[in-house]
Amino acid sequence: FEIAWDATSADKGGWSSFMAKEIAEQPEAIANTLRGRIVDGIVEIPELAGLGADTLRDIDRIVIVACGTASYAASVARYAIEAWARVPVTVELSHEFRYSNPVLSERTLLISVSQSGETMDTLMAVKYGRDAGVKTLSVCNTQSATIPRESDGVIYTHAGPEVAVASTKAFIAQIVALYLFGLHLANVRGTLTAEELAELTEQLTGVPEQLAEVLEVTETVRTLAHWMADTRSVLFLGRHVGFPIALEGALKLKEISYIHAEGFAAGELKHGPIALIEPGQPVFVMVPSPRNSPVMHSKIVSNIQEIRARGARVIAIAEKGDAAVLPYADEVIPLPIAELFMQPLLTVVPLQLFALELSTAKGLDVDQPRNLAKSVTVE
Ligand code: G6P
Repeated sequence: FEIAWDATSADKGGWSSFMAKEIAEQPEAIANTLRGRIVDGIVEIPELAGLGADTLRDIDRIVIVACGTASYAASVARYAIEAWARVPVTVELSHEFRYSNPVLSERTLLISVSQSGETMDTLMAVKYGRDAGVKTLSVCNTQSATIPRESDGVIYTHAGPEVAVASTKAFIAQIVALYLFGLHLANVRGTLTAEELAELTEQLTGVPEQLAEVLEVTETVRTLAHWMADTRSVLFLGRHVGFPIALEGALKLKEISYIHAEGFAAGELKHGPIALIEPGQPVFVMVPSPRNSPVMHSKIVSNIQEIRARGARVIAIAEKGDAAVLPYADEVIPLPIAELFMQPLLTVVPLQLFALELSTAKGLDVDQPRNLAKSVTVE
């Protein structure tokens, strides 16, 4: 099964930028990532070829290597793979990995995540792993790119061509592809019941529709971004799967709006970053659902109170109907109701839109930011 990449789909098709188009395409991109891969509640990934069930039952550790946005997709998926398949997962930046004398064995699975499949740092990490005798799996958006060719198995994300330098639809597709792998792994290792697998695959199947719903916040985010066009620094807070989303939100803003932005784990706030809070400092907060994670939710609400008391301007991205954040947030961006591991796929969308709209408000080239390349083929 392959998705055809034709000249029309590589055209802006009436959108102001490729990034705007690619953000809008996310529901379709994810439908394509999922297509044909869930059969009767079971994940099927025929392309895994060289990584059969026996091999997957035998691995005792997963290391994921990636750079930039792809590394944050890996960091989100790490929580899910560990929860579902009960295998320890670490995420390493590709360029740090091979200089760190990593501890590897024949029972390690090395997964690389790369939109282009050509990032030199990631390719070299894969070659290092392969030479050390580990099994390699590539998650890639580009058919027949170098990294999948160098790997034992591949899961193509099928998100379609991504032209804007700042990655959006490929990011969400990478998380979904890693989730599919996590569910497949849980199935072959017997760590989830048939009911649990059916429930999770059903949640995944619902994501395209939820993505379409979250895109309805575009106008709200545009207004916010236009007010904030002169902002010099923006902070992002999250916990658990919301933490890598905070990092991704900050990266998007740096990449295309040239604004200083930083993401933090919300629990780390009191260990340093809270010193940065001064009156007027905008802070985006990824609020976990009170239904899925009541404890994390109440901790985040406390964090919001702490920064609000110090004058921060709080923009909460929270599940619709979450009344607890309303008294403390300056703005609430509502998210559709979603289960724990599906929420980050939705939370990132307002952050992508915010970076896009802020860059546009500043009159910058959204698709071709200064100093960056879509694919970095040098080390
Ligand atoms: C470059 C791009 C980033 C991207 C990173 C990894 O730095 O500017 O947007 O996240 O490479 O790219 P890859 O193709 O490996 O996912």
